[in-house]
Amino acid sequence: MNQPLTASPSARLSGRIRVPGDKSISHRALILGALATGTTRIAGLLEAADVEATAKAVAALGAEVERSNGAVAVRGQGVGGLRAPSSALDFGNSGTASRLMLGVIAGHDMQVELTGDASLRRRPMGRVLAPLAAMGLQTDANTDCATLPLLVRGTSDLLPIIYDLPIPSAQVKSAVLLAGLHAPGRTTVIEPLAARDHTERMLGFFGAEMATEDRGGGARAVTVCGDAELHGASIDVPGDPSSAAFLIAAALIAPGSDIVVEGVLLNPTRSGFVETLLEMGANIEIVDRRDEGGEPAGDLRVRTSALKGVRVPPERAPAMIDEYPILACLAAFADGETAMEGLAELKVKESDRLAATEAGLAACGVSARVEGDALFVEGKGEVKGGARVKTLMDHRIAMAFLTLGLGARSPVSVDDAGMIKTSFPDFVPLMIRLGAQFASC
Ligand code: S3P
Repeated sequence: MNQPLTASPSARLSGRIRVPGDKSISHRALILGALATGTTRIAGLLEAADVEATAKAVAALGAEVERSNGAVAVRGQGVGGLRAPSSALDFGNSGTASRLMLGVIAGHDMQVELTGDASLRRRPMGRVLAPLAAMGLQTDANTDCATLPLLVRGTSDLLPIIYDLPIPSAQVKSAVLLAGLHAPGRTTVIEPLAARDHTERMLGFFGAEMATEDRGGGARAVTVCGDAELHGASIDVPGDPSSAAFLIAAALIAPGSDIVVEGVLLNPTRSGFVETLLEMGANIEIVDRRDEGGEPAGDLRVRTSALKGVRVPPERAPAMIDEYPILACLAAFADGETAMEGLAELKVKESDRLAATEAGLAACGVSARVEGDALFVEGKGEVKGGARVKTLMDHRIAMAFLTLGLGARSPVSVDDAGMIKTSFPDFVPLMIRLGAQFASC
């Protein structure tokens, strides 16, 4: 059942809030916990459907996952120690969970069926199957066009590889590195531009031998030494910058706002959105920079700002890949054109986000166009709104356009806010706490 929701023009958002734990780090903490010996304790794990899919998958593979007093304990089975699940693993809406777990399954002598919801079943899996098949994972699927459901067979005799990533994808990099844990020798992934580096950071934290080498022009080679032993660790998950992005955007466009978002992850491979906002003239102050769970974090004070259009270069895309829908919505409130380049990957997210964003903006009276893999938004300082936006099973499209509705002249509805539960179930309650206005419709 669809859950339509309307966001109404709001003003003077204020207060201090903490966004929930980072989704990428949450997935990885559960997965590495399952592959470690001993117990991994995770504080601040994101409680959302995507991460729940990973928790269920590692439990079905033999790890013990226990929750008490808001913390999660994972008792791992050691690298190579997981067992075949009794039924198919259902990853729901989560591309990250399914792709990272393919890397884990690759290193175990077992047959596993993977499936997901209608959105995930449309997303390309060949990008992970190609390198994993070169390492020894077997599948009947054609790696050029494979999608879920998939039947794969792993092996305890994986081969290490050197893999040149054809696209900057942290999911593919991570799947290969996770498989590399199980292979003898060194497995190296060469990425054309640095994508989020939580897997390699966390692998090092759990005791794997890792090496990262800069290859110039933003490229990096990341190596994991195989036949690794991981040891259970304590992880504090910092706040998700991709969720914080909506609160930051709301405060920038709702008149008279002044908010603080606490404990936001400030890893440079994730901070392209804040960097772009600062170039647009946003009044954002980063206060109290600190380390949270081996990752840089800080509090962000955000005040309503007059924004100007900018060019966002293609090499910044990996550091803000999930933030383009909300950036495009913000760009509509700016003065002048914002050009966002190098966005081919947006076409294969939970929806085709380039097309979904262009259509949503057009419905709200904003002039936007896609040319190749670039998106251009004509900022006019204000947005008409008064539309119902199609979200196409995509949580970030839903949150982006609800946020836009808070700053528009007339309310904006989305056809289905239900998917927000996959990444940020508290999106609406937290926005309401800041003073935002929503109505079910
Ligand atoms: C993620 C990587 C990104 C991102 C996704 C989370 C991760 O996907 O869009 O939301 O946790 O590794 P790609 O690796 O496909 O770019």
